[in-house]
Amino acid sequence: MKKLALIVVLLVGCSRGPMPQRVGEASTAATSPAPPAVGPSSTPSPTAQPAAGIASARATPSPPVGGVYMGRRLAAPMGHQGAAWLDRDGRDTVQKPNHVLDVIGIHEGQKVADFGAGSGYFTIPMAKRVGAAGQVYAVDIQPEMLALLGKKVTAEKLTNVTPVLAKPSEPSLPKGIVDVVLFVDVYHELERPDLTMTQLRDALSPTGRVVWVEYRAEDPKVAIKPEHKTTLVQLRKEAEAVGYTVEKVDESLPEQRIVILAP
Ligand SMILES: C[S@@+](CC[C@H](N)C(=O)[O-])C[C@H]1O[C@@H](n2cnc3c(N)ncnc32)[C@H](O)[C@@H]1O
Repeated sequence: MKKLALIVVLLVGCSRGPMPQRVGEASTAATSPAPPAVGPSSTPSPTAQPAAGIASARATPSPPVGGVYMGRRLAAPMGHQGAAWLDRDGRDTVQKPNHVLDVIGIHEGQKVADFGAGSGYFTIPMAKRVGAAGQVYAVDIQPEMLALLGKKVTAEKLTNVTPVLAKPSEPSLPKGIVDVVLFVDVYHELERPDLTMTQLRDALSPTGRVVWVEYRAEDPKVAIKPEHKTTLVQLRKEAEAVGYTVEKVDESLPEQRIVILAP
């Protein structure tokens, strides 16, 4: 009898693995150091692992490996040294910022995020549109970009812009209140698109949307480096992998498409 009891104790003890972790529950891995900050010349870390405890039960796409995510080569973040290109003469004629804001339906009183705001080319028209009752979170990983943006905000006497210095895989937006998160020429640069898109869910208001504006890779006339262009097929694949639905695709810009995503 004693021998039998001992065997039972041993069997029970051996079968006990680590406690199951609920979705959204923090684990010790979640407190490990964040991935290294990306500066202008950094490239995405191929070895970084997704932080545990991300609150999404819907999708767990594999992280990028060797700078490739779901078959797409990631672009390195554009350095602040090239900021003048963002404010180049003639950009308005192809980028049409006010038309883009019309397509998205940005209006007075909204809380919006200009994600990867750069020198603020979109931040300023967004801030004017949402007005004093609204708010623009201007998010970037480069303090130099936010400094350039800050000068424009001051010059325009805008009081509704909050600069947010983010980490590459930590959007750092307030929870549950952002109506639109706009990425203009940024999504293809994300070091961890899987993490960023998953974490953004927490920032969105109940009717919130994420919007990507990306150069068309299908069009050979678009004179942009291959990693800075994306196909619609690829964008759909990546959106769906993180549980978003492509709600609307607008092809009215000459070189880019506007993709509106529901979480
Ligand atoms: C090509 S610029 C576009 C700037 C602006 N959206 C525009 O259209 O003028 C891309 C910007 O995205 C920023 N960026 C890249 N990865 C980011 C990330 N993970 N989080 C926040 N900003 C990021 C870069 O620092 C850079 O300022």
